[in-house]
Amino acid sequence: MGQALAFPENFLWGTATASYQIEGGTWEDGRGESIWDRFARIPGNVHNAETGDVACNHYYKYNEDLDLLTSLGIKSYRFSIAWPRLFPEKGKFESRGLDFYKRLIEGLEKRGIEPVATIYHWDLPQWIQEQGGWTNRDTIQHYLEYARVLFETFGNRVARWITHNEPWCVSFLGYGHGIHAPGVKDWNAAVKAAHHLLLSHGEAVKMFRGLNLTTQIGITLNLNDEYPASNSEEDLRAADRFDMYQNRWFLDPLFAGHYPHFQQNTVFDEFVSDWGFIQSSDLETISQPIDFLGINNYTGGPVKADKNTPIVQAVHSETDRPKTDMGWDIYPEGLYRVLKRVQSDYTGALPLYITENGAAFSDTVIKGRVPDDNRINYLQRYFEAAHRFIQEGGPLRGYYVWSLMDNYEWAFGYSKRFGLVHVDYETQERTLKASAYWYRNVIRCNALDAN
Ligand code: FCB
Repeated sequence: MGQALAFPENFLWGTATASYQIEGGTWEDGRGESIWDRFARIPGNVHNAETGDVACNHYYKYNEDLDLLTSLGIKSYRFSIAWPRLFPEKGKFESRGLDFYKRLIEGLEKRGIEPVATIYHWDLPQWIQEQGGWTNRDTIQHYLEYARVLFETFGNRVARWITHNEPWCVSFLGYGHGIHAPGVKDWNAAVKAAHHLLLSHGEAVKMFRGLNLTTQIGITLNLNDEYPASNSEEDLRAADRFDMYQNRWFLDPLFAGHYPHFQQNTVFDEFVSDWGFIQSSDLETISQPIDFLGINNYTGGPVKADKNTPIVQAVHSETDRPKTDMGWDIYPEGLYRVLKRVQSDYTGALPLYITENGAAFSDTVIKGRVPDDNRINYLQRYFEAAHRFIQEGGPLRGYYVWSLMDNYEWAFGYSKRFGLVHVDYETQERTLKASAYWYRNVIRCNALDAN
């Protein structure tokens, strides 16, 4: 055994989940339809046409799941709130939906686990999508009405509010590529949706400040280290375009108050003929100071030019790095590089959190055990990368493993297992994987054995 890599006192070890991926109970207590309920029912959209109808049945098993957090020694739990439980129809508020989160937050408090809530993790009420969803500026008002209920009900009981999870996925996968709900394939719509998501974030921050709450508010972005595959002029340009599309399209407006090369040469010029949806004070609102940045990071890699790929005109080139079950390169150095870059180019002393990192592997239960050494190895290497950043003075305050338990992996349905805890979807039985025991030990020691 090597020497121990100690983490700072009070480092927040956590796990993350999201409402649609675990709750099930999609028609209970007056919940309305979400865009994922609708999208998943359209043949061809989701692996095996699977839906979140039952998922992990967490809506009913939440107490058992909170006990799992306790058994792992988790300090902080990141969950998301299902908007269609609170606002199932236009003009209708459903208090039973809110009650579920009252029970959940009370359950966390009782167990001494710090609640961190994501306001929007992709389950838009379908009635809002009928009006254009995130492409419609009015959606911001609906979002604010929803956020106000949350702030006024829970306010300071939530340690950190995350306005949005990965607006890149919401807008670009949902409205551009069309592989996530609502399944729109229109890049003009995607860029507009991204803008409205960012603007709703800024407006929510303003509202939060206006309510004089003393806990924190921020946003979570999925950021990757996209670097040129070679030194050729073409690949350098390709990596730059990729970085603009993946990272800077969100980092620049949030932290610098402008879009990257706005209106001169953006990756979207070909698709957006009228930028009029960006109004005069929007960027000022978007770049409101926030209290922390959440970073989700799973992969990244070398980028090479490819004229046939729309928008970025680039693709990832093959590497010999091992891959997870998602086909994603295992690239812990990329996490370190993302942290360094974000800190030096954008956030400085602002507290950072890894709000998601983890790996899918095809785990099986063998005589009551799940020997997922590959996941342990993955997490070990990513934790080491985080430790290196902290050692160099980086303001990383916490790390949330995705995910507490296996769950509904969006368009991949139930085919990808990201959990520390195995879920048998037939019986809803939970089994701690070897990685859960390993993580419990990391948390207990607040340290990692160096390899
Ligand atoms: C992220 C999502 C999360 C989960 C992981 C694997 O993009 O935020 O819900 O699906 O990927």
